[in-house]
Amino acid sequence: MWAYVLPGLAYLLGSLSTAVVTSRLLGLPDPRHAGSGNPGATNVLRLGGKKAAIITLIGDVLKGALPVMLARLLGVAPWIEALTAWAALLGHVYPVFFRFHGGKGVATALGVLTAINPVAGAGLLGIWLVVALMFRYSSLAALTAAVAAPFLMAATLRPHIGLFFAMTSAMSLLLLWRHRTNIRNLLAGRETKIGAKAAKAR
Ligand code: G3P
Repeated sequence: MWAYVLPGLAYLLGSLSTAVVTSRLLGLPDPRHAGSGNPGATNVLRLGGKKAAIITLIGDVLKGALPVMLARLLGVAPWIEALTAWAALLGHVYPVFFRFHGGKGVATALGVLTAINPVAGAGLLGIWLVVALMFRYSSLAALTAAVAAPFLMAATLRPHIGLFFAMTSAMSLLLLWRHRTNIRNLLAGRETKIGAKAAKAR
């Protein structure tokens, strides 16, 4: 039963766009139609400032972490835990409540990976922070963490590492795909830095 219920719940929770809801509640522009067009904390920071961005970030991390934590508390099979993690991420990236127009998945992926393996999660947060502080590009920090994620999962061994290595690799590929415009902008030298207010096309 949990094989259906937990991934279903995770997908629905992931589909609640923290960025859109927070922006609406605080009277900010809809992040899907302003700035980079991405409903995520970086764009909310660009459009509405730190408070809204922090709320968005925490919400996006939690909606990934909570269903996986529930799966672990219930002691379900590892493949159901992995499926639940993927469902939360898919909900964020392709939300049923927002016409499947979701975010790029960074914070929610951090939430699910931290719930599965807190050591790897802490390492990924560290990588994100170091790259972000050095270069001031949220996307570059996310891309670096995404590339490192499967290896960090493998290095901080836990049971069923094959399953979770494959799951994390697939998540990283999705994150890279969702950042394809950012990659083009980084290569062209026109990516927006963290905190900059300038609008940019998606
Ligand atoms: O997590 C999203 C971030 O990596 C890029 O966001 O709005 O600059 O496309 P944005």
